[in-house]
Amino acid sequence: MIKKRLLVMTGGGDCPGLNAVIRAVVKRMESEKDWEVLGSIEAFNGILRDPPQVVRLTSRDVSGIHIRGGTILKTTNKGGPFAWPVQQDDGSWTTEDRSDELLERLADPLHVEAVVSIGGEGSMDIAQRLYEKGLNIIGIPKTIDNDLSSTDVTFGFQSAVEVATDAVDKLVTTAASHSRLMILEVMGRNAGWIGLSAALAGGADVCLIPEIPYDIDKVVEKVRTRMNDGRGFAIIVISEGAKPLGGSTVSRKSDEVGYQNDILGGVGHLLLSELKERMDVTARVMILGHLQRGGTPTAYDRILATEYGVKAVELVLEGDYGKMVSYRKPNVVSVPIADAINQYNYVTLDSDLVKTARGVNIFLGD
Ligand code: F6P
Repeated sequence: MIKKRLLVMTGGGDCPGLNAVIRAVVKRMESEKDWEVLGSIEAFNGILRDPPQVVRLTSRDVSGIHIRGGTILKTTNKGGPFAWPVQQDDGSWTTEDRSDELLERLADPLHVEAVVSIGGEGSMDIAQRLYEKGLNIIGIPKTIDNDLSSTDVTFGFQSAVEVATDAVDKLVTTAASHSRLMILEVMGRNAGWIGLSAALAGGADVCLIPEIPYDIDKVVEKVRTRMNDGRGFAIIVISEGAKPLGGSTVSRKSDEVGYQNDILGGVGHLLLSELKERMDVTARVMILGHLQRGGTPTAYDRILATEYGVKAVELVLEGDYGKMVSYRKPNVVSVPIADAINQYNYVTLDSDLVKTARGVNIFLGD
């Protein structure tokens, strides 16, 4: 019997839980006798390479991978079918739209009936454009940043928050021992979810997020109070996308071919230099970086990832394409991918999380 083929892939930056989704997709599909699952290596790149890098996935291949970070299918946040990097004779790079060729290859020789794309905003954008060109595709939202709209939460976020909270906990003991200010810079791009959550869970004194440009003089005041109120140390959590009032984010262009995002990072050091211009303080900066993306997913993320994987297969079996699976408490539902990429999910000033942070005297920079 010729089986229908479902292709699964992971795109964008990795995050804890990707393997749990892949496992769920494969396990759920295994009970459908007329389907088989293939995996493309490095998102759609595996299809566009010669020879194609595609693997057959059975439950044996995915056994036990739900507890592992990263992705067995590898991932990339460079290029893609609509902007494939091509080197010119003079050594410079340009991009080529290979989306038609991608669709041809998926049809023949691969005979792919449907695709499940696990990724963030960039991957969902590609998924939507391919859907509009006729591809049967389902999206699954992932990102530690939790900045995708149309879902209450993305998997990977909770795991990143655990890592960031653990960092705050550890910085508290060293800050207290040395009577220091410790500044912890966390990821999140332009969304402050990781920063705010870790600040709340860890009990930071100050939390600076991209959604609230900070007033440096007020930060100085708060730090001074905490350093001098008998406790003698202070903890600041700052999101990589945070910026001072009237200033801009600290970022740089990437020199990697096909990488389109600006690379954020370093605002913790900017903050320290701004503080030192205004006060005498002993301080250290710690940039947590990619530790937040690695390691074992939390139980919450494993469960969410598994729910997303199973739901995605059900949408494939129903032929309900062009959808992204989504969590709307308490259910896993689906939404048009087009809606999900329409806007980002940012922290709003009237949210409970912000009110709670203010309620326990975490200073938010405004
Ligand atoms: O979007 C997830 C994220 O980890 C951001 O928080 C961070 O700014 C970025 O990716 C880093 O990406 P890269 O993998 O290119 O270093």
